[in-house]
Formats: sequence, structure tokens, C-alpha cells
Amino acid sequence: MLAVVADPIYRAPKGTRDILWPDSARRRALIDRFAEVVGTAGYTEVVPPMFEHLEVFQRLGDATEVVRKEMYDFEDKGGRRVALRPEQTASVVRAFAQHRPTPPWKTWYAGPNFRYERAQKGRFRQFDQVGVEALGPEDAHLDAEVIALAWRFYQALGLRQVGLQLNSLGGPGDRARYIETLRDYLTAHREELTEESLATLEANPLRVLDSKRDGDAEVIAAAPNILDHLSDEASAHFDRVREALDTLDITYTVVPSLVRGLDYYVRTTFEFTSEALDAAQDAIGGGGRYDGLAAEMGAPATPGVGFALGVDRTLLACDAEGVFGGPTGVIDVFVVDTTGGHEALRLTDLLRRSGLRVDRAWDDRSMKAQMKVADRSGATLAVIVGTEELDAGEVALRDLRGDTGQETIAVGNLLDVLRERLR
Ligand code: HAM
Repeated sequence: MLAVVADPIYRAPKGTRDILWPDSARRRALIDRFAEVVGTAGYTEVVPPMFEHLEVFQRLGDATEVVRKEMYDFEDKGGRRVALRPEQTASVVRAFAQHRPTPPWKTWYAGPNFRYERAQKGRFRQFDQVGVEALGPEDAHLDAEVIALAWRFYQALGLRQVGLQLNSLGGPGDRARYIETLRDYLTAHREELTEESLATLEANPLRVLDSKRDGDAEVIAAAPNILDHLSDEASAHFDRVREALDTLDITYTVVPSLVRGLDYYVRTTFEFTSEALDAAQDAIGGGGRYDGLAAEMGAPATPGVGFALGVDRTLLACDAEGVFGGPTGVIDVFVVDTTGGHEALRLTDLLRRSGLRVDRAWDDRSMKAQMKVADRSGATLAVIVGTEELDAGEVALRDLRGDTGQETIAVGNLLDVLRERLR
């Protein structure tokens, strides 16, 4: 009998998570930092929809795993075939084709993507990416700019153990010719390949180079090298990318087997790995050129280059390196009111309007109970309102972190004193 394994209903679906504080604050801080870094190079934000007509994502390649196996596609109630985005490059290029912004169009994005993958640590079915896409120039220096932005961003987070793998797939002609050479070579060695790779070989010989299976390692190591199959033009482009990276002091390793999982790439491809993570999920970002994609979506032929970084994996790398830690606290001041709560209502509003982070106790509980909540809140200071103090126009201020005790201050001076103490 077929056993259907039901996911528990009131739990986030497999491969998804709720991101609660402090992780949510850290994720937000990462995105803010990314916006700052790419903003220094004039990239502006784009927010594409989370689903598109299925055809938009079919441009990623019929033979890719993402399209064949992992797409969340369905028919909507109006009978349209749509899919949740598995990545954002296709959407951004579709937006370019639709709106035709003047090139160079340099844009960045942040948001969730959906792939029906085998869920495990660092691999989710809904995962966040931050990324950039630059459409217009063919200049190899733009490839270097894009790579440098990712590199500077990792540096800004404090990551030190990031490796950059670089390759060129050549122009569309080079790529097609190389695929045939590779197909011939792999077919000649089919006896030495694993079952999985034989299946991949039928659909897409390039992807066989991606295999991490031990059984394929020998054949892959001796496979024809794509860099020997580049046209002069593609070679010159690749040389210029490498020279630019050298000028910028960005270290990289040329990896001729780096083919990437999406079919739109030509010329430069690259991937960032974290040496601090397990090899199975150590790819923390990747990208490359996709010069043919805009024309395929009905725009005038416009080259493009970009990258996307996995937010979740980048944060795992930060954990592993002990950098870019979580936020320190949620609030600065906690108001305890034993006179019924009216003063807490007034004071919290006043202090919040002055920009302080303030919370209070609820349900008119005892002083002792309110102080317990104040202690747990993580606030630095408690403002305590009692009947006697209230009559005298005063409040008590208590240091919740140190042991400097309690002082009485005039309500009129409260804001100044709080600001001074919180500096
Ligand atoms: P990608 O290599 O498919 O490229 O994804 C980029 C990054 O997203 C990966 O390096 C990884 O960190 C993260 N990622 C991918 N899948 C998952 C997953 N299931 N769970 C967690 N993280 C994941 C792209 O998406 C291209 N759009 C990149 C690009 C932009 N190329 C040109 N422009």
C-alpha cells in the first residue's frame, strides 16, 4: 500500500521556516548592508513579482534541474500556467524587456525564491537571495564590477574565508561546440560514469561536470577543458576580467569545470564558496553573463551580467566565522507604572516620539511582577511611576544592567537624563 506521509498541518511546510527575532533582525541588517554596498556603485532596487508566466522561467533551460524538477508551477484560477520564481534574474530581465529602462540599467533585489529541493541544512524550498543585475555594457570591467561588489559585501560582513571560482563558457557558438566535444568524450567514457551522470549526459552534458560524486571524478578530471575551446574574442574578454580582478586585489581560482546550474550563461561565470561551511552547501553565491536572455524575452539584444547570494547560507558562513552577530537588544527603556497604567500610556508615547525604544508592562500587575518583566525585557533602564512620585512630578530611574541603583528625577528632565544615560 502506498504510504502518504502527511506533514503536520500547524508547522511551517518542509523546507520553509519562520524567521523570528533575533534572526529576523540579522537578516534585515544583512539586506540593509547589501543595499548600502551596491548603492555605492549606483545600483537601484527593483521588486519583481514572486510569480511569472511559466515561460519566463523556462528560459533557464529545459534540461536544468531547476526547471525539470524543482519548479513550483501550477495553473491559476484563470487557467494561466504560472510559477513561483526559482530565482530572480529571469524576472529582472523580463522587467527590462517590458519597461525598457535606458541602459546601463544597474539594479539590485532582495527576496524569497522557491525550489522544490531536498531540504537540509542550508538548502531550503523557500530561500532568500540578494543580488544585482547590470544590463547594457558588454565591457569586461562590468563583470569585474559585479564580482567586486559581492566581494566587498562579504568583506563588509566581516567574512574572511570566502573563495572565488571563475570560469568562462565562451560565446554561444563556443559553448555549443564545446558541448558537442564534451558529449563525444563523455559518451566514449560512459562505462566509467555513474548512473546519475549517464542520465544527465542525455539531457545536458555540461551538467555532468557539476557532479560531486566520487564515481565520476576521474572522467571529469580528464574531460576536455572549455578554456581550450574559447574564440579569440571570448578569450580576450576573459583575460580582461582577470586583469581587472588582479587590479582590484581580488583573488580567484580559475575552475574550467564551473558550468553553473542555469542555461542562460555565456562567457564569464563565477561562484563564491565559504571555506567555513560543509562542502555540500558551501556555495554562498554565484553569477555570470547572460548576454542572450534579453533578446529571448523580446527586448533588443542587450548583454547582461549579475549575481545572487544566498542570504541563509551567507548567514551560516557568518556563524561559522563568528562575524556579523545578532542585534544586542530590542528596547532601551521599560516603563513600570503602579498607578493604574495611564502614566505608562502617556510616557511610552512621549519617549517613543523622541526616538527611544520603549516598552511597558500590561494588565496592571504588581510592582514586583512588572519589575520581573522589565528585567527580562533586555532594557537598559526602567522608569518607575508610583503614586508618591507622581504627586511630586517625579519618577524613579533604575539601572537594569549595572548596580548603580535607583534615583529620583523630575518628569520634566526625564528625556534629557535618559538620553544622557543611554549614550
Ligand atoms: P544560483 O547559483 O542558482 O544562481 O543561486 C545563487 C545562490 O543562492 C547559491 O549560491 C546559494 O547560496 C543560494 N541558493 C540556491 N538555492 C538555494 C536553496 N535551495 N537554499 C538555500 N540557498 C540557495 C542564481 O539564482 C542566479 N539567478 C544568479 C545570477 C544572477 N546569475 C546572474 N545573475
